[in-house]
Amino acid sequence: MGIKDYYSLSEVAELLGKSPETLRRWDNNGKLTALREPMSNYRIYKKEQLKIFDELSYLFNNDTETSTISPKGSFNVLELFAGAGGLAIGLEQAGLKCIALNEIDHWAAETLRINRPNWNVLEGDIKDLSFISQKGKIDVVTGGFPCQSFSYAGKKLGLEDARGTLFYEFARVVDETRPKICIGENVRGLLSHDSGDTLKGMISILDGLGYRVLEPKVLKAIYFKVPQKRERLILVGIRKDIEYDFEYPKPSKQIFTLKHALKKGDLYSTDVPPSPGAKYPESKRKILDLIPPGGYWRDLPLDLQKQYMQKSFYLGGGKTGMARRISWEEPSLTLTCSPAQKQTERCHPDETRPFTVREYARIQTFPDEWEFAGPVSAHYKQIGNAVPVNMAREIGFSIVKFLNLVQKHKEENELAIQHQNV
Ligand SMILES: C[S@@+](CC[C@H](N)C(=O)[O-])C[C@H]1O[C@@H](n2cnc3c(N)ncnc32)[C@H](O)[C@@H]1O
Repeated sequence: MGIKDYYSLSEVAELLGKSPETLRRWDNNGKLTALREPMSNYRIYKKEQLKIFDELSYLFNNDTETSTISPKGSFNVLELFAGAGGLAIGLEQAGLKCIALNEIDHWAAETLRINRPNWNVLEGDIKDLSFISQKGKIDVVTGGFPCQSFSYAGKKLGLEDARGTLFYEFARVVDETRPKICIGENVRGLLSHDSGDTLKGMISILDGLGYRVLEPKVLKAIYFKVPQKRERLILVGIRKDIEYDFEYPKPSKQIFTLKHALKKGDLYSTDVPPSPGAKYPESKRKILDLIPPGGYWRDLPLDLQKQYMQKSFYLGGGKTGMARRISWEEPSLTLTCSPAQKQTERCHPDETRPFTVREYARIQTFPDEWEFAGPVSAHYKQIGNAVPVNMAREIGFSIVKFLNLVQKHKEENELAIQHQNV
């Protein structure tokens, strides 16, 4: 979906992360009145009508392409929960230096080692590692800690209140190393986890450790040069002695689709190379054979819809991710850790099969040279867990911009002191 003058109801619903039903309700109650497409009578919206939504401001901003920016110093990152390196590669591409990466999964750690023999990969449970010796040597701590509850009842929390969770480990390492900025990444679901209390608790703990936490933001990968509708929640904490703000990356106007991921074009200079891939069981293959590109279970004959969906058939809701065949002209739906699992099928547009490992990696914008260690199932898991590389690079540029400002301020202060001493 590029930027254009008119949008359909389902496109606006998607841009806003709302359901089509909500949009219809807004049309009926006047909150956002739709126009009617003359031939079909479908609801459509003029781009100008979308100005009322702050989160869509990029549609009206001419200055949306992130320019590359060079680091004005050697900026060190400690990457926790590093997986197969999606975030780490993106940060590296932005000019940051990963001085250590921690990961518990053997195959993911092996992936990091085979691709970057010079990286300091610390394989093992984060709980067993101390970084006290690194205090003052690290500019950025990053980490996609898995989301777990801890209790928060509106009062200020201390670090110990989160003990036993992986967020505790993230915050503990931040406290041990005292970076200028820390960045957590997570699923959108963290916003509503325990009715929002888990996130509030995390913010309260980081605040107590001396970090000013910015309003968390959900970044949509499609606006950061990624041919996939993936979302990541970003949580940013800035050490309180630093007065500068971190600016989230600005969305790009150019939207990439599956075609860009798998064929030679603006994203990759060659067609996708061959690689191993999973297969659908025969029963699923027969079903998916009946689905056109861009279609899903609703494209089946009614009896097969009921048979395939079972109880879900009667539960309502779109479930457009089930028995889905992706079209060349759309970004892929979010990839999961196993490509043939029920409810999240993302079938190749022309062939009735899941995406191969290399296709998966391209949809997550990994470079073709990046190899994955372990059995094929471990490749899919590592790729499915990753932050898309291109989105990570944009986050990296924002970090570099922030650190450049801090560096400049430090240099100016040092200069002023030198002048005073002359
Ligand atoms: C969401 S993935 C991170 C993806 C990564 N940032 C990327 O972009 O590729 C979370 C990772 O945390 C790792 N992990 C989970 N528990 C851990 C622990 N106790 N210690 C270290 N790593 C852990 C998982 O193995 C998984 O690879």
